Amino acid sequence: MPTLKEHLDAIEAQFDLDGHKLEAILSRFRNRMEHGLEKDGQNMAMIPSFVTGVPDGTEKGTYLALDLGGTNLRVCEVKLDGKGSFEMKQEKYKVSDEHKTGKARELFSFIARCVETFLKSESSSHNVADEELLLGFTFSFPVEQTAIDRGRLIKWTKGFDAPDAIGQEVVTLLQSCLDELNVKVRVNALVNDTVGALLAHGYQSRGPALLGAIFGTGTNGAYVEDRRKVAKLEVEDPIRPVPSSMIVNTEWGGFDDERAVLPVTMFDNLVDRTAIRPRHHAFEKMISGMYLGEVTRTVLIHLIDNLVLFQGFSSDKFNEMYGFDTAYMSAVMADNDGQSSATRKVLIETMGLDPANVGAEDVEAVKRVCHFVGRRAARLSAVAIAAVLQHTNKTQSTGSGGADDVVEVGVDGSVVEFLPQFTENMKEALRLMVGAEAEKKTRFGFAKDGSGVGAALCALQAKKQAQGTHHPHAKPHHA
Ligand code: BGC
Repeated sequence: MPTLKEHLDAIEAQFDLDGHKLEAILSRFRNRMEHGLEKDGQNMAMIPSFVTGVPDGTEKGTYLALDLGGTNLRVCEVKLDGKGSFEMKQEKYKVSDEHKTGKARELFSFIARCVETFLKSESSSHNVADEELLLGFTFSFPVEQTAIDRGRLIKWTKGFDAPDAIGQEVVTLLQSCLDELNVKVRVNALVNDTVGALLAHGYQSRGPALLGAIFGTGTNGAYVEDRRKVAKLEVEDPIRPVPSSMIVNTEWGGFDDERAVLPVTMFDNLVDRTAIRPRHHAFEKMISGMYLGEVTRTVLIHLIDNLVLFQGFSSDKFNEMYGFDTAYMSAVMADNDGQSSATRKVLIETMGLDPANVGAEDVEAVKRVCHFVGRRAARLSAVAIAAVLQHTNKTQSTGSGGADDVVEVGVDGSVVEFLPQFTENMKEALRLMVGAEAEKKTRFGFAKDGSGVGAALCALQAKKQAQGTHHPHAKPHHA
């Protein structure tokens, strides 16, 4: 019978991604990016956002933002001061599982009612009788976007599953529910949270940003692409000049759903086949906060069932699917007081294990599992970033050593913010793939609240584009 250590060594080897494995994943990642830019309907969808400008910090005005797709629904009022700063008032609302998995109409009318409640609340400085407000809608799911304010839902992710919403125009659904309530708000921008993070980072760092990435409940990235490389968009009006760039929402969570190169272990397979949407968003299931705790729990249950952990005893909470939250994983990974008191607390007080079954070796084993699951997530995240850097030719130095040599990346989400060593592990793997120099000039900054500020900035950008300052000229080409 293998010992606990032997089991752990064997499992860790499956989670370990050395330089060769990273290179293989990176190469396919770049290939899938190119495919997605050429053709609709790819797993990594590479969705044109129709946003053709990135803010520089001088933007001004008051806009509403609505954020669906993270842990809560948020309604925000954002005042941009034109100096890279903003004021934000917001309210959070819980979306029930019934709304997440019920009828689309009910979900969207709930959302519209939250906007109405917010506007009537003290959080809003807006007078209900005032003129119509513009709203940027951060809807963080894969959408086939056809204009800055139009798009159809391709599929749900992150535990949402309202089947009749698939294929529907998201803005029309929301706007009609708002109109029914006579709320004087016009939804003029449909924004993915990664696009929001990119815009927010550009505004806050007052300069051009290349990539906005979310490592939170889900994971995804959006970057500034050369418009000519978005081959699947045909030019609508050949007389008007084509914009030189466009933000593309990669939907990298869906990378390699074919499982050609992803290191899928038996634990990933178990998490996947019991998830709300099996065989979808495989990459996301290895990286994001919704799943990391569950992958860890699955490994620990395997060790329990092999009678090498906690003397073979579990607890009700440990047996419960998604019972080991990613936040507990963060607490365990941050625990280095020598007594392992934080880990013991999670195991005994939160997870309900009998203290008699939690020995020093068990505590160390739990820590080790959390670390290797977290490290793999960080290294896979680095693949996505390396791919975008290489694809956009940002791995070569311009030689200036000045500001133009810096590549700005805006990140947001609970994993990058709270999972210990995530950023360090990600940078280490990035160095392996793009070299020390390119890694060093890639500057990561928190696009804090990208989904709020970014949506407001997108509403402003949509207004500019509609007024003709920037024109979206393209329509999707349906092959
Ligand atoms: C969604 C993306 C989103 C990401 C981060 C994924 O599940 O498909 O649209 O950007 O989560 O929230």
